[in-house]
Parts: sequence; structure tokens; C-alpha cells
Amino acid sequence: METRPLEGRKGPAPRELPPAVGLLLRGPGVQPGRCPPGHFSMGQATTCSPWLSCEQLRTEVRPLKCVGEGAVKTVFLSEWKERKVALSRLTRPEVRDDFLHGLRMLQALQSEHVVTLLGYCEDDDTILTEYHPLGSLGNLEATLNLAKYRSLNTWQHRLQLALGYVAILDFLHRSPLGTLVMCDSSDLPKTLSQYLLTANFSIVLNDLDALPLVNHSSGALVKCGHRELHGDFVAPEQLWPFGEDVPFQDDLMPTYDEKSDIWKIPDVSSFLLGHVEGSDMVRFHLFDIHKACKSQVPAERPTAQAVLDTYQKVLNLLRDTATSQSREML
Ligand SMILES: Nc1ncnc2c1ncn2[C@@H]1O[C@H](COP(=O)(O)OP(=O)(O)O)[C@@H](O)[C@H]1O
Ligand SMILES: [Mg+2]
Repeated sequence: METRPLEGRKGPAPRELPPAVGLLLRGPGVQPGRCPPGHFSMGQATTCSPWLSCEQLRTEVRPLKCVGEGAVKTVFLSEWKERKVALSRLTRPEVRDDFLHGLRMLQALQSEHVVTLLGYCEDDDTILTEYHPLGSLGNLEATLNLAKYRSLNTWQHRLQLALGYVAILDFLHRSPLGTLVMCDSSDLPKTLSQYLLTANFSIVLNDLDALPLVNHSSGALVKCGHRELHGDFVAPEQLWPFGEDVPFQDDLMPTYDEKSDIWKIPDVSSFLLGHVEGSDMVRFHLFDIHKACKSQVPAERPTAQAVLDTYQKVLNLLRDTATSQSREML
């Protein structure tokens, strides 16, 4: 699929939606998080507002403290109209292209799987998004150890998170823009830092700076960055194939497709499942699908959609078993 320019898509109902849906979206009883392009709704709000402009970002948003920093963005917990928001600033001019790519993707991919965009200012290199106090998915274990969240530290909730993670990959691989590869994922901590844990315990994608497009019909595949990747976390096809004696050369490095994301699923899911009562039983039921994800040949790995289906079946099966077991105990 072709990528479409995003500018100037304000106003009329989005073309990809049937007219009736467009009308529903813009009526007064709007569902949170489901606004037409160029608009947002926050928290419990039932109306959609246009993305904030440069002027509004400059005058209405007050940065309070730095809550995160990556290679491309420094993120500040900020205040806007007495609400908490996240203001991201470009860290250095050399990575401005990544920053702008991330902004384009954020604009185009607004959905339940992606952090809500509230506004941006290209002149100032700033992006405003919804703030998620639980922060990066990398904090999961620490969050689950807090008294407030301990009751959520069950295999059910943790498997639900793994489902959410695979649902995001499925969304990217079949996105409105085409098949996108989640490239910013060269190791586990890095991968986790691209996602946020929401207060209602779901996952949203937050960092969309490295999402190259695969076009299977034209044979256009991708490479994640221009540097050599190492280790078992990345897929085998992402490693330099010509041995240690041949120095790495970007233009000789073969390209690959979205199946590199599938290779990483078992490791991310295993982190999400953690070590609680029942998580080994879940691992046992996911064994076969995870084995398939680790096929050396990318084409032999399942799609994200197939993994998601299997996860859903396992969740249903184990839930039913758990329910009938607790009935028997009564
Ligand atoms: N909306 C947000 N709410 C809370 N924390 C955030 C938010 N956005 C980013 N962060 C924090 O900032 C970190 C860096 O953000 P990220 O977008 O990944 O920057 P970079 O593109 O530089 O990697 C995240 O890992 C997370 O900890
Ligand atoms: Mg990041």
C-alpha cells in the first residue's frame, strides 16, 4: 500500500471510514480515543478537539519535569489546562529525520494501540501526547510490586498484556499505511522502552521513530538502521551474514521483512508473563507457537495475527479451566 501525505487532512470525515461512522465520531457522544484525523479526546472526555498548534504549545503548556530520555526525544511531564501531558523535545538536530518520521507515524496511526497525539509544532521540534504515569513497559515489574497494583500481578493480567503487545505488532503489520516493521527493538530493554503501560493496564506504542515500510508485492524489504546488530534478541536475518573476517558494510547487508518482529515475540512475552503462579503453565501452552516464532527461516514464522489468535485461544482455554476448577472447590 502507498503512504499518503498527512497534511491538510483536517475537517471532512476521514475517507477510510463509511460516512455513518464519520458522523457518529463527530457527534456529541464521541467514544474516547476515536476522533477524526487531526483531533483528539482525552481521558473521559466525550468531545474531540483539534490538535494543539505551535502557538498553543508555546503559551498553554508548562513543562514540569523530565520523565524520560531516549536517543531522539527528551520527554517532560507537563501541565496543560490543569491536566498532565507529555511534551517531547528533539534531543539533537542530527536525529531530526527520525523525530519527524515518528511524528508522521503518530499522526497517521492514531488508534487504541498508539499513544494519543494532542498536538505538535514542527518549528519548535515538539510533540505533545497523553501522559501515562506508569511510564515505560520496562517498569512493569516495579509497578506490579507496588501495593496498589499487586492484585494485578496474576498470569491472567500478564497474558492479557502479552496479547496487547502482539495486537500492536499485528496492527503495525497490517496498518493503514501498509506493513510497518518495529525497528527500534535491538534488545529487550530498548524494545520495552518504546511502549507505555496505561493506567487501565493495557499497552500502547509510544515511540514510532523507526517504522520502515515493507512492500512485499514490489519486493521492497527493509533494514533496521545502518549499523551492525548483534546478539540472540534480534532475528538471525538481522545479523551480518558474511562472518567475522569480512568487515560489516551497510550496503552489503541483506534486507528483510516484518518477520524479524515475530522472532522477538517469545522473549518479550516471556518478560511480560514473568514468574508468578500460573505463568509457567501459560508458557507451556505457548510453547509450540513460540517455537514457530523462532524458525530460522523468516517465511516459516507465523504472522502476528496467527500468534494473536493462538494467545486468545490459550487465554480462553485457561480461563475456562480456572473457572471450572474454582467451581469444583465450592
Ligand atoms: N506519554 C508518555 N507518558 C509517560 N512517559 C513517557 C511518555 N512518552 C515517553 N515517555 C518516557 O520517555 C521515554 C523516552 O521516550 P521515547 O519516545 O521512546 O523517546 P526516544 O524516541 O528518544 O527513544 C520512554 O521510554 C518513557 O519512559
Ligand atoms: Mg524510544
